Amino acid sequence: MRQNIIKQLDGYDEVLREIETSRRYNIDVTADKGEAASYINRLHPEKLDLKINRIIDQTPSTKTLRLIPVNQNLPPFQAGQYITIYLETDGIRTGRPYSISSAPNQTGYYDITVRRMPNGLASNYLLDAVKPGDLLQSSGPNGHFVYNPIIFDKTLVFIAGGSGITPFMSMIREITDRGLDRDVYLFYGNKSLNNIIFHEELTGLSCQFENIHYIPVIENPDSGYGGISGFITGDIIKNRIKDIRNKTFMLCGPPALYSFCMAELEKIGVPSKKIKQEIYGEPVNIWQSPGWPENVNPDDVFTVTIKGGGSFAARAGDSLLTSLEKFGIIQPFLCRSGECSLCRTKIISGKVYQPPESLVRKSDLQFGYVHSCVSYPLENLEIMI
Ligand code: FES
Repeated sequence: MRQNIIKQLDGYDEVLREIETSRRYNIDVTADKGEAASYINRLHPEKLDLKINRIIDQTPSTKTLRLIPVNQNLPPFQAGQYITIYLETDGIRTGRPYSISSAPNQTGYYDITVRRMPNGLASNYLLDAVKPGDLLQSSGPNGHFVYNPIIFDKTLVFIAGGSGITPFMSMIREITDRGLDRDVYLFYGNKSLNNIIFHEELTGLSCQFENIHYIPVIENPDSGYGGISGFITGDIIKNRIKDIRNKTFMLCGPPALYSFCMAELEKIGVPSKKIKQEIYGEPVNIWQSPGWPENVNPDDVFTVTIKGGGSFAARAGDSLLTSLEKFGIIQPFLCRSGECSLCRTKIISGKVYQPPESLVRKSDLQFGYVHSCVSYPLENLEIMI
């Protein structure tokens, strides 16, 4: 019966003929067995060895690191994707995802643009401790915050805050470099004028290309500033784009930008299916997130026991992934935002806090799995990794 079904498959006769020809000419197809795997590995490598070619000052707190490959070609990426930089600092092996800010159409380097974060282990290291010529290791490009020609509109409304500009910079550079038929309205919020990353380039592109509209919004401008000030409100957006229809809205920035701007977009009637949000690394000040229990202080310390592998003390305010790294255990990770699922961990007993935006599959929830990068101990835990 199975044989009969196989014979009915399209191409069955051709495959038989191919096998017969291979036998006749003594072609050993098993010799090519690894070719597909090596091709896939070139396009989607697990790890990349990179050299810092240049460091470009952007703002007082931000630099761009230009990374070139050491002994392989750089795999292609889509504008909006990130790489995770792996590093060891203060005796802790860790890593952080950084969106690639260069355009995908130039293939010689990746730019990542790093802003100093308060107590930022990785950002302090990348801004202070590295120099041109140093080697770094990263993941291959990942992420889903990319233009989808099937479901996105031709007109894009980008809403960025601070270093959340980086994926949009890659997209804008690609649009202008390649002359793509897309219109962009970029609303870019910053605390002050000298915090704006890529300000001169964005101003230049918006003068040169009529499909690029750049609207900086400054929270606390100096006196004499003539532009738009405050936060990026629905009114500011509506005034500029006029009609919300036939537009796709994309957001990237700190957590406060998401909560504020999502509400503003709702006020002006943007349907949620038209809004795409980028993940943005581990949440900061997690204890300020909705639903954090009032009786737990971020400095409370709990004991985490790993089934079959010792125990360690973990701060409530640190993600389980961070605490594991401090304990010297490296779990696989990429996004550190609850999206990629690489850091799945089973909670055998005890309770963790997970912010409302963390994504966990229904089946994971059912069987007690969490993402350690966005899970915070609220009591003593037993876990399995
Ligand atoms: S690192 Fe991606 S879900 Fe945790």
